Amino acid sequence: MTVTFRRNIARMEGYVPGEQPQEPGYVKLNTNENPYPPSPEVRKAILSEAGERLRLYPDPGATALRRQAALTYGFDLSRIIAGNGSDDLLAMVAKAFIGEKDAIACAMPTYTLYDTLVRIQGGKFIGVPYPADYSLPKALAARKARVTVVASPNSPSGTAVPRGVLAALADAVPGILVIDEAYADFADDTALSLARERENVVVLRTFSKSFSLAGMRIGLGFAHPGIIEGLNKVKDSYNMNRLSIAAGTAALADIGWMEKNAARIRKTRQALAEALPSVGFAPFPSQSNFILARRARGGSARPAYEALKRRKILVRYFDTPRLAECLRITVGTDRETAALIDAMKGIR
Ligand SMILES: Cc1ncc(COP(=O)(O)O)c(C=O)c1O
Repeated sequence: MTVTFRRNIARMEGYVPGEQPQEPGYVKLNTNENPYPPSPEVRKAILSEAGERLRLYPDPGATALRRQAALTYGFDLSRIIAGNGSDDLLAMVAKAFIGEKDAIACAMPTYTLYDTLVRIQGGKFIGVPYPADYSLPKALAARKARVTVVASPNSPSGTAVPRGVLAALADAVPGILVIDEAYADFADDTALSLARERENVVVLRTFSKSFSLAGMRIGLGFAHPGIIEGLNKVKDSYNMNRLSIAAGTAALADIGWMEKNAARIRKTRQALAEALPSVGFAPFPSQSNFILARRARGGSARPAYEALKRRKILVRYFDTPRLAECLRITVGTDRETAALIDAMKGIR
């Protein structure tokens, strides 16, 4: 092939999303989707938007969704931006802040898209290992990166960093701190208020997990108006389509529906954490809608992943040194959890 890509694009691997089987019949516990349906209000809102109006471009500012978010979370409209999933918001951060000489620093292991985005920009990725207990590594601020990203709760560990620790990190970093709160609705604590209290903090939320809307692609970013202004310069003009704006607005207006589902998931999470040791896996404490569990006797978890897949149960396996002994298991319904534990008993 004679086409030449930018050097960093030619060199990098593309991001590999989790498996999304297109045939039915799987118990799908691999990409942290919600096992319960979204609010019925979402369906109504989509149907009412899905007619004649589709011939018109959507509102480039997704104002209806942002207004509802302002109301729900108590933020000024100027501090909110909407994204086509939080991945879109992460890409905006990378575009706006990372050039060839700039770095993103993260505690590792974490969501691998951060690494991919910085490589697309031709910047530098700095990974600082989490200690065994997944407390925030002290060295993170010392790396003096332009952008520091902490997922809290973190994926794949499921562990969270206390708000006070994140506040101290925001004060210690020289650049901006992105707190990716994709799983915050399943946690005991949130650092959302830091987006109001600190000028260098961006907090990201997604509708893909707690709001059961992974298929719609909706995310929100909260930050100082100066940061939001910069992100708006790099965002696709019409990054939110009409149906996502309508769906997100309706989902937020009926937030009690989401909270009920999140409470059910937390309850099932407890049951799953209690059952895992009986099938030879030790769970890490989880604040999210998934559990990272490690083979109690050591050794690769790949055979367990593959045996479950043969039984049409999909979980996530990462073939990296730190995670090779682990499975990351999404918390499904009570029934799905029972099916998983049954299958794990069968393959031991
Ligand atoms: C930590 C983290 N951030 C962001 C995302 C992406 O969310 P979205 O579906 O909103 O793009 C995920 C999805 O798995 C995630 O685990």
